[in-house]
Amino acid sequence: MNKKVLVLLIGILLIVSAAIIIMTLKDKKNDNIEKDVKVNDVDSNNDNGSGNLSGNERVLVLYFSMSGNTETVANIIHDELKCDILRLETVKSYKSDYNDLLDEAQEEQKKKARPELKTKINIDDYDTIFLGYPNWWGDMPMPIYTFLDDYDLAGKKIAPFITHGGSGLSNTPKKIKDEEQNATVMEGLAISGTNDKNSKSAIKEWLTKIGY
Ligand SMILES: Cc1cc2nc3c(=O)[nH]c(=O)nc-3n(C[C@H](O)[C@H](O)[C@H](O)COP(=O)(O)O)c2cc1C
Repeated sequence: MNKKVLVLLIGILLIVSAAIIIMTLKDKKNDNIEKDVKVNDVDSNNDNGSGNLSGNERVLVLYFSMSGNTETVANIIHDELKCDILRLETVKSYKSDYNDLLDEAQEEQKKKARPELKTKINIDDYDTIFLGYPNWWGDMPMPIYTFLDDYDLAGKKIAPFITHGGSGLSNTPKKIKDEEQNATVMEGLAISGTNDKNSKSAIKEWLTKIGY
């Protein structure tokens, strides 16, 4: 074979080999980019993606709140855990005047009333309920008792949190346990009603303490 032809053939062979190597590397890179996108998609579609929940635990933040303090705490927990959240509402409307509300709540408590709930909960969808309420006369508002009566929480975990004007938890986790003997009632969190907006660090500390 002519020397010139041989050099030409080797040249062509080198160019073709280089082209194949470049194409293969390009394909690999695209593959990796695609994999990255897929992983990110799964994370962003997952409710629990950036929250503190382990994979399978289904958590609901359920709260009763009249003037918004308990709602603020509930929202912080919801933001931390990236879980579901629901406000517990009653069929009846409570008095808007504060003094009237004090009387109304006291009257309900004396009568052991069970105000009917407007909110319906798919309780089977959840393993754990973060249950929030204001301290009313050293106890839970009676709609919380209605909830505990209406729903069977056996086998579930309940994490109670309360907002208050000085009385703290008032032994309410024990009252929940009395109503739901087959549930696991976790250590409760008490947030002073006037401090609710600055309570994020206390809430985070509590979440860590109880395993979230
Ligand atoms: C009817 C009623 C009774 C209350 N009783 C107490 C009480 O016994 N002890 C206490 O510390 N705070 C008491 N408070 C204050 C509330 O617990 C406090 O303001 C709470 O943060 C309100 O929560 P909310 O904004 O989610 O409704 C009472 C408030 C109301 C309306």
